Amino acid sequence: MKYFINSTAGYHKHDLNSLGWELTVCNALEPIDSACRKILASPCSFGEQLYNFLKKMISLDDIRYVLEIGGGLGYLMRDFLTLNPRMQARMIDISPYLLNKQKETLKAFKTDFELADILAVDPASFSVFDLVMMNENLGDLPTLITAQAKDDHSEPATTQILAKLEHFKNKYNLPLGLNENEHINIGAMEIVEKLCLAGIQYIYLGEHSCEAAVPEPIKPYLILPSSGIPEMISLKGHKEFTIKFSCLQKIAEMLNYSVQRGSFADFLPLTLSDKVKTALRIPTPFNDEQEIIRQFVYDLYKYEYLILIKGDKS
Ligand SMILES: C[S@@+](CC[C@H](N)C(=O)[O-])C[C@H]1O[C@@H](n2cnc3c(N)ncnc32)[C@H](O)[C@@H]1O
Repeated sequence: MKYFINSTAGYHKHDLNSLGWELTVCNALEPIDSACRKILASPCSFGEQLYNFLKKMISLDDIRYVLEIGGGLGYLMRDFLTLNPRMQARMIDISPYLLNKQKETLKAFKTDFELADILAVDPASFSVFDLVMMNENLGDLPTLITAQAKDDHSEPATTQILAKLEHFKNKYNLPLGLNENEHINIGAMEIVEKLCLAGIQYIYLGEHSCEAAVPEPIKPYLILPSSGIPEMISLKGHKEFTIKFSCLQKIAEMLNYSVQRGSFADFLPLTLSDKVKTALRIPTPFNDEQEIIRQFVYDLYKYEYLILIKGDKS
């Protein structure tokens, strides 16, 4: 199979000057009066809800060193440090623009900052962290794409990258490259393997999934196409790809991690009110609020998370 490489590094390093084009679930929940908060069972921010969810599985009080990779505007880490001021944080981000935003958001907290492409960071430096979080950025990491998705900037995959692909297929017995149109989340697999090999106790990963499924009670209201193979999403100045979470799950399990997997709706539970049902059911939204609700509910189920716990097979 002939592969090309899709990289978003140039865009993030040189061109990104707003996250407004890419409204993440975390940022959608940031305004206190956000229409998105109002349709959840608990009207809290993303970071507060994720913290309270993780607390049920992880003894967060014992965590000292936490690393967030690709923290965007810094709101998730702000919430964690507010809820647990004994944590010490490091933020690593490839974007100078967003790293500066994080410095502003986190100026009241004990945090340090590193401008770097996470795949170029020495993985030995990860091992000091008790918890590592990556939210909505696995899809930004390099993807091997087939000829139908390439554009004028796509470089052919190097022999080194193709050797990495062989490594993942063989070591973890992953069914990759069986379909001639299948793109491959090579960067996402690489970072998960590096984090697990560094022996980090707890890892949280969240991103849009190509394997997402809608639970039965939501099925009458939401159609969620999930092809099972990474889907291309065109955004301002770059393209990214949904994640085949089953591959990341298998890598983590083979490296002795227990895995909890689900959709964002698990920690951002929806209240299926008449207002929400109406917004989802009508063929075309009548107003901005209905449009926001439709997109947000779609995201709650399209985004999956993995919580990886080292050596815990319980
Ligand atoms: C879509 S934003 C998500 C931001 C935030 N986590 C959130 O959920 O709102 C992607 C983030 O990942 C960062 N990023 C993308 N590629 C990266 C890489 N190779 N290394 C480090 N950070 C990266 C971006 O600069 C940005 O901060």
